[in-house]
Amino acid sequence: MVFMEGKGKSKSGGRKGKEESSLFDKVWTLANHRGFVFPSAEIYGGIAGIYDLGPLGAKLKNNLVQAWREFFVLRETNPPVYELDGSTILPYDALKASGHLDSFTDPTVSCLKCKKWMRADHLIEDSLGLYVEGLSPEELTKIIRENNLVCPDCGDGLSDVSVFNLMLGVQVGPAGGQTAFLRPETAQDIFLDFKRVQQSMRAKLPFGIAQIGRSYRNEISPRQGLIRVREFTQMEIEMFVHPRELGSHPSFGRVRDVRIRILTRGQQMKGEIEPVEMSAGESLEKGILPNAYMAYYLAKETLFYKSLGIPYDKFHFRHMMPEETPFYSGGNFDLEVELSIGRKEIVGNAYRTSYDLSNHMKKSGKDLSVDFDGEKVVPEVVEPSFGVERAIYCILEHCYREDDGRGWSWFQFPPKIAPLTALVVPLVRKEPLTDISFKTYENLKENGIDVEYDDRGSVGKRYARADEIGIPFCVTIDYDTPKANTVTIRDRDSRKQVVVNRDSLTETISKLVSGVIKFEDLL
Ligand code: GAP
Repeated sequence: MVFMEGKGKSKSGGRKGKEESSLFDKVWTLANHRGFVFPSAEIYGGIAGIYDLGPLGAKLKNNLVQAWREFFVLRETNPPVYELDGSTILPYDALKASGHLDSFTDPTVSCLKCKKWMRADHLIEDSLGLYVEGLSPEELTKIIRENNLVCPDCGDGLSDVSVFNLMLGVQVGPAGGQTAFLRPETAQDIFLDFKRVQQSMRAKLPFGIAQIGRSYRNEISPRQGLIRVREFTQMEIEMFVHPRELGSHPSFGRVRDVRIRILTRGQQMKGEIEPVEMSAGESLEKGILPNAYMAYYLAKETLFYKSLGIPYDKFHFRHMMPEETPFYSGGNFDLEVELSIGRKEIVGNAYRTSYDLSNHMKKSGKDLSVDFDGEKVVPEVVEPSFGVERAIYCILEHCYREDDGRGWSWFQFPPKIAPLTALVVPLVRKEPLTDISFKTYENLKENGIDVEYDDRGSVGKRYARADEIGIPFCVTIDYDTPKANTVTIRDRDSRKQVVVNRDSLTETISKLVSGVIKFEDLL
């Protein structure tokens, strides 16, 4: 939850503000040109901060979501994680009880002349390099006046700072209907449906409920492409645990030795920016993390993002400072990734205690406690909250490769999330090569491998196009294919080629994607 939306900036990282890096520009431009992402309703001018994912972006997203679902939901046994597909429209009372109506705000300021709206804290941080998290509107106004800050666009004077609620309202039903809001986080459905899920699944504590879906925030100044948008996808888990049981996670042994990087509060106070590294087990023994569930998720997230192509030394977990942390939280740890535009949060990990369930109990009058060996318990909650669009940008930037002698830039997506797994190409556009190529393409598709067929232009140009959009393998049908039933697999990363039997192609590609074999093993 972002009652203290301080994100992205902070003593630990800093934003690059107005001077976006050239790498960001390059990757963002490429992502637009190659159809990963573009403005929604573009032919009508669109709406700032609202994007559509094109064919490659949609595939990248689906692969990322599926990888997450398998790793954090489907393969989890103890505790189990159940799934929910809740509504994006929530009633006024629910969001009043959750605190969003009163506190889900950002400080805002507007230009008296051109009427541009800006986040007051961002303006101050960008102009003065000051860290102003948690300051009141009056304090922010004072800083603006004392430093004679003006509108960065037209140079005119600024209004006083006020607070702006980030929720998008909707009227449900005809005139005078019910006031409702688009959900600002998927988590609230999970709390509202908690008792239903528990009863229908006969679930016993501890257990988790996961949800993947859209959330909406009326960001004052959407910026940096997919990093701060108004409509985005979250993948969230609320893990419900008996308060007495938070110290031990039944499957902790599986991640105890995983190394994680943490930027502690003590380090941030000293202005240090290099995280400390320790095992998940040590982080718990040293009392750096509040409970075993938090340590479990930080370890799993480390494994997950490494497997998606974000280098281990380019992300860490930052213990949020007290002024950035909601009053009820037992500790928040943001996963921040180093990007050319500064450090950006892509996962919020929060120990939400029993705050949400307790508030919904009070406001609704419904009993949301559960039975635990004859005892009535309101469980506590540990929540990892993943943003999909921010992760997509991080993957694009960290997998982007400049021309390394091949003559073009390319994306080194890990095969399991690459938008396309293989490109099937006939060496030349001639029968029987084209016919065999098309049949090979159809056969791979029927076997669940996401491939494309291309017979236009020179084979070198087709390889280049495949590299440019990050396709890990090209399958070439050449003059040997009709005689020997062999095809050539070209590896995107090494640009090496290997000849395999056409009958074993599906199996070979599947093994390469799952990592059971490496391309070098085939040489
Ligand atoms: N339920 C907890 C929660 O929503 P959050 O830190 O506000 O926590 C979680 O959001 C994640 O959602 C963030 O780490 C980020 O990846 C993503 N997110 C939040 N606001 C976003 C925005 N305006 N644009 C893109 N992603 C956003």
